[in-house]
Amino acid sequence: MTVTPLTTNQDLDAARLREAFGIFPSGVVAVAAEVDGQRVGLAASSFTSVSLEPALVSFSVANTSKTWPMLRRAGRLGVTILAAHHGDVCRRLAGPVEHRFDDVPLTATDDGAVTLDEGLARFDCSIYNEVEAGDHTIVILELHAVEHSDTSLPLVFHRSAFGRLAASA
Ligand SMILES: Cc1cc2nc3c(=O)[nH]c(=O)nc-3n(C[C@H](O)[C@H](O)[C@H](O)COP(=O)(O)O)c2cc1C
Repeated sequence: MTVTPLTTNQDLDAARLREAFGIFPSGVVAVAAEVDGQRVGLAASSFTSVSLEPALVSFSVANTSKTWPMLRRAGRLGVTILAAHHGDVCRRLAGPVEHRFDDVPLTATDDGAVTLDEGLARFDCSIYNEVEAGDHTIVILELHAVEHSDTSLPLVFHRSAFGRLAASA
């Protein structure tokens, strides 16, 4: 195997970066809320756990997002870890806003956090901090409630495609 040396001053163009970042597999979450009586949300693969005390998670949102300015006004945000069968649901959550929640059973809390009933884990969150980071904003969320009874496999996003984990023996 020939190993190319890592050289500085490379042209880190977006397509090349996207390809390299996509090598790292991730799960996908739905971030959703009811704002002014409307359901708003998006799919995010940048979700990660951050802290146990206080209980924090994060995701990064593109500064071009039209949904985030609305979502961030919600008192509470719902975060749902998508299941392996949620590929179409995920595509819809990233597509035209008027169809994002088509054909998907949802529950909203009194405070407006919206979660998907068939998610593997559901979190009720509020915004803890927002950190500017280049063309994205890192959103840190504080958890207020967690529910995770489902033991099915998660949706996996890898190299711009959906895959699934092999069930362990
Ligand atoms: C698998 C997948 C993962 C995504 N992850 C992110 C993400 O982490 N951050 C983000 O800002 N957008 C992400 N998106 C795109 C958003 O879901 C959404 O399409 C985008 O925010 C544009 O819609 P908006 O203008 O309504 O926000 C992802 C889309 C897909 C399909």
